[in-house]
Amino acid sequence: MDKWLTLGKASEISIGQSKLFEIEGRIVSVFHLKEGWFALDDRCPHRGGPLGEGRIQDGCVICPWHHAQFEIASGHCLQPRTLSSVKSYPVRVSQENIEVELP
Ligand code: FES
Repeated sequence: MDKWLTLGKASEISIGQSKLFEIEGRIVSVFHLKEGWFALDDRCPHRGGPLGEGRIQDGCVICPWHHAQFEIASGHCLQPRTLSSVKSYPVRVSQENIEVELP
């Protein structure tokens, strides 16, 4: 059964920024875009680059290691080095807390 877990305060992440959280053995990057809040597994499926350190551009994050590009809202890979998508998780902000739903 999926469960909602609190990661931190919404005020910690400005629009256009991301932040890493480690929770229940996972490293999750939370992105705050003008369209809303999104969460992705932090590790790039190509060779494990830290997506939370990637450049955010036009709703996408660019892996800092070999520049694969992923749509933040879905985790879909839009530009190779890999064809695999990144796992994405539902996010909500409740009473100023960022919450993510993990399986
Ligand atoms: S590790 Fe991300 S593109 Fe290679």
